[in-house]
Amino acid sequence: MLKQEIEDGTVSFADPAFRADVLAGFERRPRAIPARWFYDRRGSELFEAITGLPEYYPTRTETAILSAIGADLAARVGEGRAVVEFGSGSSTKTPLLLEAIAPSAYVPIDISGDFLRESSRVLSARFPDLLVLPFEADFMRLMTLPRTIADAPKLGFFPGSTIGNMTPLAAVDLLRAMRASLGEGAMLVIGMDRIKAPDILVPAYDDAAGVTAAFNLNLLERIDRELDGTIPVDAFRHRAIWNDDRARIEMHLEATRDAEFTIDGRPFAMAAGETIHTENSHKYGARDARILLRSGGWTPIAEWTDPEDRFAIYLAEAQAERPAP
Ligand code: AVI
Repeated sequence: MLKQEIEDGTVSFADPAFRADVLAGFERRPRAIPARWFYDRRGSELFEAITGLPEYYPTRTETAILSAIGADLAARVGEGRAVVEFGSGSSTKTPLLLEAIAPSAYVPIDISGDFLRESSRVLSARFPDLLVLPFEADFMRLMTLPRTIADAPKLGFFPGSTIGNMTPLAAVDLLRAMRASLGEGAMLVIGMDRIKAPDILVPAYDDAAGVTAAFNLNLLERIDRELDGTIPVDAFRHRAIWNDDRARIEMHLEATRDAEFTIDGRPFAMAAGETIHTENSHKYGARDARILLRSGGWTPIAEWTDPEDRFAIYLAEAQAERPAP
């Protein structure tokens, strides 16, 4: 099995799912690797840096909306809900929500246990009276939430427009799984990035300082580090393109010269100009967003945007199971 030396000398084993996704991704045409593999430690640091870039408007716009809507949100949501955050990461927007609504508990769900424990510690220190129940899981799957919150009404929290990183089909599956996990009477606060002019969208994913390029290229570095790869990373460049037909930004890694390399001993070759598709970031107009929510079993009941309509936060409630129409 592949192993990796970490800085402090500890040895860790490469995730078999990472290996499987990378090998399959290089074999298929067009080549594609799921975006979830961006987020090793370095990738997570680079993503944090992206969120502060002048061109990357989503984080600061969503944060400003959340700060402005606290009282309105609290009135609609009521007190005593257990907040369940999907893919909490560093949970930076969470305090804004928790401060606004007086929840009974907070359940951050994340696949990265280390990140989860660290951010839970920080939140517990800031909200000493709040029951914080970190839950290590892949939020893409249907899950049984901790028993302690079984009787509390739930409020799902899915900020950041992470839903946009899924194809519409996967997004609908996830929304349905969230509805099933959160149960009857649940509500959901979800952020979605709007469709807008490519001259705003493209620089947000191809910034002047090259941080997004480093984030994208780190995937190849991670493959070399963890999967015994010999990919010449300097033979690739970052590309961000707006696919208008699919209403999404696509990130690709393009070979700038012919390259031959191995991954876990397997040989691969790419010709100059060939690409690896690494991420989609779907954008949703107002109606698109509402249709997406309804398709996933959620009825939108309120919607807030910024003055330039760049980003939107939706409040939705779980649809009761009932036959059409
Ligand atoms: C995490 N996700 C919502 C980001 C986005 O905007 O799609 C990921 C990202 N990729 C490049 N920049 C930011």
